[in-house]
Amino acid sequence: MFLTRDEESVLAGEKGEGLRTAMELLVALGDIYDAKELVPISSAHLSGVSYKTIGEGGIEFLERLSKDAKVCVPTTLNPAGMDRQKWKEMGISPRFADRQLHIIDQYERLGVNTDCSCTPYLGTNIPQKGQTLAWAESNALSFANSVIGARTNREGGPGALAAAIVGKTPRYGLHLDENRAPSIIVSVELDKVDYSLLGQAVGSAVGGRVPYFRGIRPTVDQLKTLAAAMAAAGSVALFHVEGVTPEAGIHDLKGMDRLVIGKREVEAARNKFETGKDPDLIALGCPHLSVEEIRDLASRLRGKRRKGDAEVWFCTSRCTAAKCPRELDVLSKFGHVVCDTCMVVTPIEERFKTTATNSGKACNYLPTLCSQKVVYRTTDGLVEMIT
Ligand code: F3S
Repeated sequence: MFLTRDEESVLAGEKGEGLRTAMELLVALGDIYDAKELVPISSAHLSGVSYKTIGEGGIEFLERLSKDAKVCVPTTLNPAGMDRQKWKEMGISPRFADRQLHIIDQYERLGVNTDCSCTPYLGTNIPQKGQTLAWAESNALSFANSVIGARTNREGGPGALAAAIVGKTPRYGLHLDENRAPSIIVSVELDKVDYSLLGQAVGSAVGGRVPYFRGIRPTVDQLKTLAAAMAAAGSVALFHVEGVTPEAGIHDLKGMDRLVIGKREVEAARNKFETGKDPDLIALGCPHLSVEEIRDLASRLRGKRRKGDAEVWFCTSRCTAAKCPRELDVLSKFGHVVCDTCMVVTPIEERFKTTATNSGKACNYLPTLCSQKVVYRTTDGLVEMIT
């Protein structure tokens, strides 16, 4: 990969050890993916925050970088392993809490905005169309690519952090025009679309290809659900929706492969999700609940009585929570409003065996990362479980 004289001096350690480490990582990535050069980025979003996922090895890496490095573009952070304020209520051990707070401190020292959310695009880090980004977190980067029309690869946590420190990322993959064209047309033949199930069906069928959807008119929240489910079921980092997303309609679709999604495919997705019954945790907010979703839930729950003894979590970001305190008062009569974290990256396996969720992404990760059996329901179905 070509480096400018200035980039060479960073690589030689002339601007500090933290910058050198970050540049070494970017050069290694650039060489692996055959990038020709580095390109400046407008923002970064980092995964690798929960103590459950990064452990002591991750802490060492962060401590090393935070000694003398700082991010130089707006940079946000994914959910951590606990609610910073209510961790005791969540049953988190003091040792876990101590290590988790230490991780967040390291990110703060690096200059990162520590709102801890997987939906930065709804509040703390909103990209513009055409901007170059280095984003980790599969739902967020897919949303940024597909719905906003910004450009990011599917970064890992260390790659995104290195890019945030250097302010650049290797130019390959989805930064290049030719890789942003759709490669398969998906015709959706359903009267009513469940976007978690659709995402599961399409993600598992297309893998890492770029789908072009016909026959759907999703809202912003439905696009968020779809992006998350497809990224988890396959590795979709970019999709187009005819008449909805900014880059749909600029490519030639002639001769392209086709996939039809109807009732049968959606039922197969539902059957794959359902592995348990009688949940002891009911969790909403994967990806983190938006203001609109919180308002919708509050209007469904207002005036109802709580039923059942399963614990209920509503996961959102602190930034979103601050925008709708009255609605959250309603939700908190039915369960815990949990900020900074989510049902997947906190150690729920220490307290729960079966989780009910409306999220396709959570259905993919709860069994593998949290040893959970899963009950899949729509939002309506989850509301019915608790009222
Ligand atoms: Fe976000 Fe956690 Fe789901 S990070 S997308 S709520 S698995």
